[in-house]
Amino acid sequence: MTDHLSRDYFDQKRSAAYERRAVRLLGGLYRRVADDVAAVAPPGASVLDVGTGPGRLLHEIASRRPDLVLGGVDLSADMVALAAAGAGGWASRIVVADVADLPHPDDSVDVAVSTLSMHEWPDPGRAVGELARVLRPGGVLLVYDFRFSRVGRESFAGLVDVRRTPVRPKRRPPALFTRVSATAP
Ligand SMILES: C[S@@+](CC[C@H](N)C(=O)[O-])C[C@H]1O[C@@H](n2cnc3c(N)ncnc32)[C@H](O)[C@@H]1O
Repeated sequence: MTDHLSRDYFDQKRSAAYERRAVRLLGGLYRRVADDVAAVAPPGASVLDVGTGPGRLLHEIASRRPDLVLGGVDLSADMVALAAAGAGGWASRIVVADVADLPHPDDSVDVAVSTLSMHEWPDPGRAVGELARVLRPGGVLLVYDFRFSRVGRESFAGLVDVRRTPVRPKRRPPALFTRVSATAP
């Protein structure tokens, strides 16, 4: 049986179904997250969307900040194909990879962002350690997930200024989502 933590779970059919649902239900979250990224990213910054899925968040970020160098990773090749198909100049920087084993060099990312993916990471502490490796000193990590999927602060060891805040996109129930923000030392 294929479980949702497997790289085979989001096959072509499930990825396409997810994209349809995301377009219908998650626009408010993507807009809110894109506003947050646009507010913290320095000019020309490198931004990595982790577990990008169909890549809808990247469109929202690009529409606000065309100066940013966008990229994405996802475990699912079918999600990456969907995200790349609809992408602009950043299509070639959307690649298949596990958050716990990124192909990016050390200190190469200014802002790492992730939406609704962390609850699927089998070892969040290891994944955050890998994100800390690729973030430049002073780089920012923004992780948004369902409120119920509480990942402990210990998973963010190695980063500083770790803060958890409720997130309420417009026209959504109160505090359905949580954001954890942190900074690379
Ligand atoms: C629920 S979808 C969210 C997609 C997108 N971020 C969004 O908000 O619409 C979760 C995504 O995380 C990806 N994912 C799960 N585990 C991952 C891992 N270890 N490394 C990279 N991506 C992963 C899945 O393949 C899936 O595309």
